[in-house]
Amino acid sequence: MVMGDTAGLNAAKKAKKDEFYTQRVDIENELRHYKSHFKGKVVLCNCDDPRESEFFKYFTENFEKLGLKRLVATCYKSQDVDLFSQGECERAVYQIYEGDKNGNLTVDDDEVSVRYLKGDGDFRSAECIEILKQADIVVTNPPFSLFREYVAQLVRLDKKFLIIGNQNAITYKEIFPFFKNDKMWLGFGFKGNAAHFRSRYQDVATAADHRDGMIRVSGVMWFTNLDIKKRHERFPLYKSYSPDEFPKYDNYDAIEVSKSADIPYDYDGAMGVPITFMDKYNPEQFEIIGATESEGKGFSGGLWDSNSGVAQATINGNRVYKRIFIRHRKEEGKQS
Ligand SMILES: C[S@@+](CC[C@H](N)C(=O)[O-])C[C@H]1O[C@@H](n2cnc3c(N)ncnc32)[C@H](O)[C@@H]1O
Repeated sequence: MVMGDTAGLNAAKKAKKDEFYTQRVDIENELRHYKSHFKGKVVLCNCDDPRESEFFKYFTENFEKLGLKRLVATCYKSQDVDLFSQGECERAVYQIYEGDKNGNLTVDDDEVSVRYLKGDGDFRSAECIEILKQADIVVTNPPFSLFREYVAQLVRLDKKFLIIGNQNAITYKEIFPFFKNDKMWLGFGFKGNAAHFRSRYQDVATAADHRDGMIRVSGVMWFTNLDIKKRHERFPLYKSYSPDEFPKYDNYDAIEVSKSADIPYDYDGAMGVPITFMDKYNPEQFEIIGATESEGKGFSGGLWDSNSGVAQATINGNRVYKRIFIRHRKEEGKQS
């Protein structure tokens, strides 16, 4: 199988191939912004073979620094033998770590309690849901192919989370309402929204980007409901509105802003922006009105002219890629 970049991810998704593993450096780069959230908390990594997962290793090694109460990782039984589990995972296991008991500043084997699950460790199983209920914060890279269900379960059980997902998930009809209602936002993210994951899939990234034993995936992001500074930072705007530069759509009552950096600071109405805008979204500065109807029926919050019969936004008949509709918060309408 030849894989790499978005093509690789799409093929992986099609084949429901979810076996790629997050690097420690990427976990550290993101987690450093969240330290204040972890004191006294039970952390769960519920898509993580503890023998392989850098999430589990990161939290064991930083247990005292973060002041954690408990760390739990559940392993999903691999259905096929692969490079990583090598078929050893006959029954799914979970592991619990409660800190450095003997004070030798090392994670010793006898400090990690290994237990067997009755089932295969599916995050949707009753026993895994019980474990989830005991947790405060879930941190992992879940299977992209089950992202909708995975997030729905976290929200249903009112859990805090910090998880990796694909950028396209922002406008999934099951996910977008969480963004719109401020139940979820984007974390700090990966450089250029691309990351290398350890994987058995063969990578075809260009020579400069290729890394042995890794797959490069573009459009990856961190999704969270933990409050972070970034979320309250104002996105600096420098452009003034002009009708020539920001045309109205044929079929939506909004103007097209093809680059988030160009959002005019002095336009009071609805503006269509690319989904990457979510990376700049500050709820004190902007309001999310909705998204194009191509993402979900009724998503545009009344901006769509249904007589057009075209769900994608168009300008002079030309279709525009999916858009999120935003407007300035009232007090932000006239910025300097
Ligand atoms: C993208 S990988 C990431 C693995 C690990 N969290 C990491 O970041 O290194 C997703 C993992 O979810 C596991 N998985 C797939 N389906 C699952 C399910 N229904 N319940 C729990 N885990 C599942 C896969 O075996 C795979 O290891």
